[in-house]
Amino acid sequence: MIRMEGKVSTEVLETIRHQTDIVNLIGKYVSLEKKGHNYTGLCPFHQEKKPSFTVSQEKQVFYCFGCGTGGDIYKFLMLAENLTFPEAVQNLATQAGVRIPVPAYLGNEEQTRKKEQLWKINELAKNFYHYFLTKQPEAQPARDYLAKRGLSLVALKSFQLGYAPAGWTTLLDYLKQQNCLTGEIMDTGLVISSEHGKGYDRFRNRLIFPIYDFLGRVVGFGGRVLDDSLPKYLNTPESSIFNKRNILYGLNLARSSIREQGFALIVEGYLDAITAHQFGLANTVATLGTSLTEEQARLIARYTREAVIAYDADLAGEVAALRGVDILHASGCLVRVVTIREGKDPDEYIRLKGINAWKELVANALPLLEYKLIKAKQKKGTTRVILQQVLPNLASYKDAVEQEEGIRKVAAYLNLSWEVIKNEIKQFETQQRKVRPDSDKNVNSSYNRNINPQMLLKLPVNRRTRAELELLQLLLVEPTFLVLVRQELGEYAFKETNFNKIYRCLKQTYTEGAHPNPVSWLHQLDEEAQKVLNRLLVERIAIDKPEERTTALIKTIKEINRQEQQTHLLQELAEAEKTGDKEKVALMLAALKQIFKDGKPDKKLKSLTMGGK
Ligand code: CTP
Ligand code: MN
Repeated sequence: MIRMEGKVSTEVLETIRHQTDIVNLIGKYVSLEKKGHNYTGLCPFHQEKKPSFTVSQEKQVFYCFGCGTGGDIYKFLMLAENLTFPEAVQNLATQAGVRIPVPAYLGNEEQTRKKEQLWKINELAKNFYHYFLTKQPEAQPARDYLAKRGLSLVALKSFQLGYAPAGWTTLLDYLKQQNCLTGEIMDTGLVISSEHGKGYDRFRNRLIFPIYDFLGRVVGFGGRVLDDSLPKYLNTPESSIFNKRNILYGLNLARSSIREQGFALIVEGYLDAITAHQFGLANTVATLGTSLTEEQARLIARYTREAVIAYDADLAGEVAALRGVDILHASGCLVRVVTIREGKDPDEYIRLKGINAWKELVANALPLLEYKLIKAKQKKGTTRVILQQVLPNLASYKDAVEQEEGIRKVAAYLNLSWEVIKNEIKQFETQQRKVRPDSDKNVNSSYNRNINPQMLLKLPVNRRTRAELELLQLLLVEPTFLVLVRQELGEYAFKETNFNKIYRCLKQTYTEGAHPNPVSWLHQLDEEAQKVLNRLLVERIAIDKPEERTTALIKTIKEINRQEQQTHLLQELAEAEKTGDKEKVALMLAALKQIFKDGKPDKKLKSLTMGGK
């Protein structure tokens, strides 16, 4: 854990926190639903099908009941964007319009600086190409080509399309003139090094498609020829900022629409996505020719639980679709598939038949099971082969009703009985468990329930932990009781170390009248204690009579303390008697007598202290 103290003041951190709405921030990544006082959604940090990821707006924290990940706005951005703490602070400060006195780059300084440099050069290149396409006479053939394909000016602008001129070093010269370092220019892949050292532009006389990550940073480029020559497309190679596996083309523009529409439309190519957007279907994203990856599926699952795949009409598209549906289904999405019969891809279909016909095709997309069954039957597979293809899908339904429906569908289609299929699913599941033990099993998807201390601390549940936990929860809700707790139980009121660490923070920040802000303690605490605090903050507890409860808990803890001390003294006494240490025997007896006076000693102690007189 990187500490910020001394670099960015707690005050600045608090200001940024104050200006940032955690639900808003996380909502950009996770589709959140209001449940009682909290918001819940599918956890972006582990695979799950039922939402156990919880955000508390009031407490400004998040916590996942499935994987235990939690924290504040800074922690979330660090995890979601793979940022260091200072980077996350910087990022949120910019969004919130808060100026940070010292840009504090600690830790991965070099790596971060390099990434930023790549984004910056890509941004320059994107603007350069776009300027060329829109303003330069030389780009007339490119503009004609786009016009011929029916691309609107608006689409061209929102996707920031560009044109790479025919010269060998036009971009390279421009970037150098902008004071970019040759080595860093090379790292973007926009320029290829030549034997004589100088290097030349990768893209020449090509239409340019900037590729953005979902936050709108330019991470790479695709370039298309203006005719039928080959290769049709060139792309910049993978780099520290460009990994095709976790990029969905157009997602930066599609995010909010996906959430509004309630589903994502997944196509293959740049132009399929751009055309769909041009005609108002802004929830369209493209996988860029590769078949859908798990990372991309997870990216989609952040915004919606429904996906429609609309791949090209050729065999490659069909194979990719068949693989894609399983990946999406496994990541918890409801999947449907569009089959295109006129034109070779969505772009052509829309141009040919119009946007309304396309919308209808999408609305009538086949649900995953039907699609698979039909495809398998077309290939004249045997009943066994067809069943084998849909078993993984049938088995992975988490919703019993959905599964039941699925089984009925398959049973009717294959003319098999319900029982036979149910049995096959059972067998399949047993086999699967042997291959890989189900990790989703112990995911706890309920929220707002009483905390089980064992789950929270991996500690044996005993009276003390339970009482300490409740007392700490009470203190977080009603910090005014701190005075009483401190007075009765002292500076180390809690035996559980993580509780004590939180208690210490409370003591440090509590001043009468002012309500301390527990979320600001997260950065002082170690990982373990952070986890505990996060969990305590998202959990709401109902307290009827807080004062009475606090007094009762203090009494319980005092009693436990006394009993433990008593046991300890009795052990010491027995030891002293065995060794004949008279002085120690006397001391122990005196101590025991004191305990006797304070509390309710047990019978054994009573007889001992009486007899010892
Ligand atoms: N692709 C690629 N490299 C290639 C071919 C394809 O990166 N050599 C990616 C591109 O992202 C392309 C997508 O795969 O958009 C789909 O390829 P294809 O269907 O061949 O191209 P279209 O997008 O249909 O392009 P166009 O309509 O201009 O022919
Ligand atoms: Mn096409």
